[in-house]
Amino acid sequence: MSFPKDFFWGASTSSYQIEGALDVDGRGPCIWDTFAAQGRINDGTNASVACDHYHRWPEDVALLKAAGFGAYRFSIAWPRILPTGTGAVNAKGLDFYDRLVDGLLAAGIRPMACLYHWDLPQPLEDAGGWQTRAIVGPFADYARIVSERLADRVKDWVMLNEPNIVAIFGYGFGEHAPGKVLGAQGMLAALHHQNLAQAEAMRAIKAQHPDVRLGTVTNVQPCLPDSTDPKDIAAAERWDAVWNRVTLDGLLKGRVPTLLAESMTNIVKTGDEKLIHFPIDLLGLNYYSPNTMKHEPGRPFDVGWGTPKVDRWTDMAWPVQPDGLYDLLTSIKRDYNNQACYIAENGAAYVDQPDANGAIHDADRVRYFADHLRSVERAVADGCNVKGYLCWSLLDNFEWAFGLTKRFGIVRVDYDTLKRTPKDSYRFLSEVAKTGKIPAIL
Ligand code: BGC
Repeated sequence: MSFPKDFFWGASTSSYQIEGALDVDGRGPCIWDTFAAQGRINDGTNASVACDHYHRWPEDVALLKAAGFGAYRFSIAWPRILPTGTGAVNAKGLDFYDRLVDGLLAAGIRPMACLYHWDLPQPLEDAGGWQTRAIVGPFADYARIVSERLADRVKDWVMLNEPNIVAIFGYGFGEHAPGKVLGAQGMLAALHHQNLAQAEAMRAIKAQHPDVRLGTVTNVQPCLPDSTDPKDIAAAERWDAVWNRVTLDGLLKGRVPTLLAESMTNIVKTGDEKLIHFPIDLLGLNYYSPNTMKHEPGRPFDVGWGTPKVDRWTDMAWPVQPDGLYDLLTSIKRDYNNQACYIAENGAAYVDQPDANGAIHDADRVRYFADHLRSVERAVADGCNVKGYLCWSLLDNFEWAFGLTKRFGIVRVDYDTLKRTPKDSYRFLSEVAKTGKIPAIL
């Protein structure tokens, strides 16, 4: 087997995790700056330098090019463009992405620009953030401003990265910025307002630039029951509705999942279902591992985390279950009319040990990629409409609440010197990109 000729290969990153330069060229504060200042990052680090991509981006573009990657998803920092979230535009912020896009195009790489990968301007959070529908207008305005500048060259636009993770961990459990612990209602409100915002932003962009491809990226993990107990099975179905279906059904079907209709009556207004629906071109899917869930009264939706019965784990303590990716892709084919999609993130954190020469033989990560790519290959062979694969991530980077301790990169970043060193997994994916085939691994 091999992949179709026009299948695209590449990598994903996000602004906050790699750029650094948080107080450079007029950028305003965002919720993750505040979260870090509150001491909420496990290893006590912050993203003020991260990979210093803001200054070293030409080197990073060269790495993408040398890998033979044809596509790159990056995100645009809202607080660089609109330092207070609304109002005055910061020209220097737009200039940065302008240079990056030109650099990518000169290297023959298709830029896929994501408008929101979690760095919400702090003043917008102070006004209610994703808990309020008042955020819809500002997000659409921001989308209009950025696309106005870049859509002559950027033809792929991603509205949001993982609205479900933002809602569940940012506003439900509080483990991510802004650190709110609002439980089930907080999660559902943030989900619905992101649904409204992304569709409104797509309408705004489409009106000005009818030739671009529009979509969003969500984290879709199959939700498996921890046991055959009907209570666990029902819990997994509820969690599937929250984690996967509010976003997917909203965007692709203009519907609130039946299981959640009652819980969302105070959030969803008459007419909203029409507003959240948008005929996208490309759906981005982030996959890491399935969620194994059990019945647990007292928690949001009475759902708790179960224990996957597997013997391979990553450094995030996430189970390695490549079949889940095949199941996810076939579920998109089955439940969403074979929507055109791509893998927007897939990857694994492992503890990398450079050898005496500084080389990184990250065999676990190579095996992770090989196994997951086989699932994608199988799904493509079974007729799933998968157009491309982007790994997470090009670089080791600032892993949110874990700080600099978890390494997902196919390129190592030495945080003292900022030196980049491609790992074995970089060479592995490079071969896949160049040949369209998965090489045999030992
Ligand atoms: C996010 C990335 C993150 C990765 C690994 C995804 O949820 O989009 O920003 O680094 O997972 O945790």
